[in-house]
Amino acid sequence: MRAHVNPASPFARKVRVVVRECNLGARVQEMDTAVSPVAPNRELAAANPLVKIPALLLDDGVTLYDSRVICEYLDSVAGAGLFPASGTARWEALRLQALCDGILDAAVLTRYETAARPEALRWSEWIDGQRAKIDGGLDALAREQPGWGSAFGIGQIAAACVLGYLDFRFPQLDWRSARPGLKTWYETVATRPSLRETAPPA
Ligand code: BEZ
Repeated sequence: MRAHVNPASPFARKVRVVVRECNLGARVQEMDTAVSPVAPNRELAAANPLVKIPALLLDDGVTLYDSRVICEYLDSVAGAGLFPASGTARWEALRLQALCDGILDAAVLTRYETAARPEALRWSEWIDGQRAKIDGGLDALAREQPGWGSAFGIGQIAAACVLGYLDFRFPQLDWRSARPGLKTWYETVATRPSLRETAPPA
C-alpha cells in the first residue's frame, strides 16, 4: 500500500499514527505529497478527485480517502482494535473522531485564510467564526477527557493530532491554561513513539 501524506497535515498525521499503532510500517509506503488550495497536484488528483491528502492506494488499484476511512481500513487489516466493533463504544469513538476532525477543519481553513489568502481578501468575521468552533471543540474535549482513562483509540489519536496541529500552526493560541486536564493528558500521550515519530516539522 502507498499513502499520500504530508508532514504538516494533521489529517495525514492521523493515518501515520494509525500505521504505527497497527505495526503496518512495513506494508504502507508513505509518500510526501505537496498540496495547495490553488495549484492542484496532478498525481494526487489522479488518485483522489477531491485532490486531498491523505489518500491510500491499495495494491488492487482502489484508492481510499478520507482519513476516517483510511484509519478504519488499516485498523481492520491489522485487527488492532482502534475502532470499537459495535455498540455505544463505537458510536462514542466515531463521534469523538468527528469532533476532532471538525476542530481540524476549522484550524486548517483558518491556516489557509491567514497564510495563503492575499491579505486584502481576508474576512476577519469568518476567521472569528472558525476560532469559536476551535474553542468550543477544545472545551468539549476538556470536558470529556477525564472519561477516557487510559484508552488510546481513534478518538484519542484524533485528539492528539488536534493539539499537535494547534501547537504547530497556532502557537499563540493558549489552549492549555484553561484546560489543565487536557494539557496533562497530552503531555503523556505525546511521548508515544507513534506521536513522536509523526510530530509536525519544527
Ligand atoms: C499545513 O501546512 O498546515 C497543512 C498542510 C497540508 C494539509 C493541511 C494543513
